[in-house]
Formats: sequence, structure tokens, C-alpha cells
Amino acid sequence: MGLLAVGHAVLIPKLAIDPNSLTVSGISSGAFMAVQLHVTYSATFKGCGALAGGPYFCAQDDVFTALGTCMNGTPPVPVSELIDITANTVAFGYADDTSNLLRSKVWMMSALNDTVVATDVVEALAQYYRHYLADDSQIATVMNRPGEHSMQTLDYGNSCQTLGEPFINKCGYDAAGAILQHLLGPLKPPAVADQNATGTFVELSQRAFMFLPYLTAYGLAEEAWVYIPPQCENADTTCHLHVALHGCLQSIPIIGQQYVRDAGYNRWADANDIVVLYPQAIKTALNPKSCWDWWGYSGTDYASNLGIQPSTIKGMVDALVTQQQPAEREEA
Ligand SMILES: *[C@@H]1O[C@H](CO)[C@@H](O)[C@H](O)[C@H]1NC(C)=O
Ligand SMILES: *[C@@H]1O[C@H](CO)[C@@H](O)[C@H](O)[C@H]1NC(C)=O
Repeated sequence: MGLLAVGHAVLIPKLAIDPNSLTVSGISSGAFMAVQLHVTYSATFKGCGALAGGPYFCAQDDVFTALGTCMNGTPPVPVSELIDITANTVAFGYADDTSNLLRSKVWMMSALNDTVVATDVVEALAQYYRHYLADDSQIATVMNRPGEHSMQTLDYGNSCQTLGEPFINKCGYDAAGAILQHLLGPLKPPAVADQNATGTFVELSQRAFMFLPYLTAYGLAEEAWVYIPPQCENADTTCHLHVALHGCLQSIPIIGQQYVRDAGYNRWADANDIVVLYPQAIKTALNPKSCWDWWGYSGTDYASNLGIQPSTIKGMVDALVTQQQPAEREEA
């Protein structure tokens, strides 16, 4: 065993993050991953936004269940079974106690013309969360907006009814703003367009936070990106941290930095002291579209705190909060 360099950009930027306002959101496979992170680490994440995603462990480690039940909604999502599985996962210590979810805020959306993830799947997500949350008012559902399967923005990307890369559509609807306002609000309105956000984009080694030696088969890129508003730099202001998860076919090798720069989060971050972590998936033989793992390609533990993807993202979040650099380690 030799000590290998762990890639570049390992250093954690100097920040002051409020540990009590950590939130996560995503689109499509990123929505499924956002829910997995929220449920698995409910002591950490206080809110979750999911655009076109379903409940925790919906696919039950099976790609055909993912494609049928969890995308088409046929056969229907067995919500009470998933609630039982969640309880078992917690009982074994592979997820935080679901009592942490009681005061959570959740936001979800199914666009009217989404041909990829059925509205019934998003309705099942609402039903799932109703089991855990104290009050219905903590759940926001957006089911009445037109548009194809995409990250909806005010004015960036393809026309609203397009199904295609970069899967960011201009729909006159600010999904990122709606998510952040529901999870963290009330917030100050942004002063500029996303493209004019004035913070810095910093590369962060994802690889350094993996508990296993790096393999591309885990579906994780070597680097993630962090957006830091100017006032959050150098720990000048205590800031929130939000994790934003791209969907399938939205990784950097496929659409460049469009999700990182143009999904709609950064201008809200500027106006409201929010650092945004953009973890990055990559394609693998079993995952040719660079999706986040919500059906088991990275291992059967993919949805729990033993999962390589959730634990790596949690490791980055923890390091940004605690300002601890990752430990140097041996790699075979
Ligand atoms: C989108 O869906 C709505 C509701 O089903 C429908 O009224 C509308 O015609 C659809 N739009 C397009 C462009 O298909
Ligand atoms: C973005 O910046 C450009 C160049 O400075 C400016 O012309 C434009 O008005 C800005 N847009 C917004 C919405 O702030």
C-alpha cells in the first residue's frame, strides 16, 4: 500500500456554517437522493425539496421497481411498506431516528406534463412524509405548473415543454427559489439574475470523503462544487448550507456547469447568506446516465448511512460545518 495523493482541492474553504439550518434538494434522481439524505440523516437535515422524486427506498434495491412503480406509478408505490422498511432501517442503526422529522419542512413538485416521473409517485412522497411530520403545513406541494421533466427556472434553459439536455427549462417558475423559501423562509428576494451572482465557485474533493478507496463504479465524480456568496467567504458571516443535487444526464461531463451555475439557487444564496454544495455523480456501466443511486447500482446499502453516496455527501457537509480537513489516508 502506498500513500497516494487524494486528488486536488481537498482543502475545506474557510466558512462559518449554522449547523441547525442544513437543507437538501434535488431534481429527479437528485430528488430521490435528497429524500434518502433527509431520511437517513434526519438529525442533520432540517428540510428537503424534491422535484419529480418519490419516497425513501421506493425502488427497494431493484431497477425494475424503479422503472415501474417509482417512475410510472404502476403498480402503485406501497407507502406503508416503505414506512415499515424505514422503521427497520432505523432500528438497525442505518438511519437516524425518524422522530427528527417531526419539525422538518418538505417541498415537492410534479409538473403537469412530466412524462418521466408520474404525479402519483410525488403524491406518494407526500403521503410518506405525512406519516412523520407534525403538521400538513410543513409540506408544500406544487402540482399545478405546466412543463416537462426538468429543473424549472424563470428564464434559463430550454422551452418549458422540452424533454432534453440540460433538463433545465425556462418555465417562468423559480423552483429553486420556491424550495429555499419554503425550507428556510422568509427570505429576501434576489437582486440579480443567477448568471450575475457574485460569489465564487470552489472545487471540493468528493473522493477525500469516501470511506472506501475510490472506484468510478460508485458513481461519484472525484470533485464536487461549492458556491460561496461573497459575504460567506472567510467566515465573515454565519451562513446556511444547502445541498443541491442534479438529476440524470445533468453531470458536468454532460452539461458542463449549467446545473451548478444556472439551476436558480445562487442568486438566492447571495441575497440570503446560503452556501450551496453541488455534489456530482458520474456515469458507470450500470448507470450510463450519471444518475444518483436510488435503485442499488453502487451496492445494496445505497439508501442508508452505509451507502457510499449518502455517506460521502454527509462527510462533505460535516467538514464544511466543522471546518475539519479530511484525514489523509492510505489507498491501495
Ligand atoms: C400539460 O398538461 C395539462 C394538464 O394535463 C394540459 O391541459 C396541457 O394541455 C398540457 N400541455 C401540453 C403542452 O401538453
Ligand atoms: C447581469 O449583468 C449584466 C452585465 O453587467 C447586466 O447587463 C444585466 O442587466 C444583469 N442582469 C440582471 C438581471 O441583473
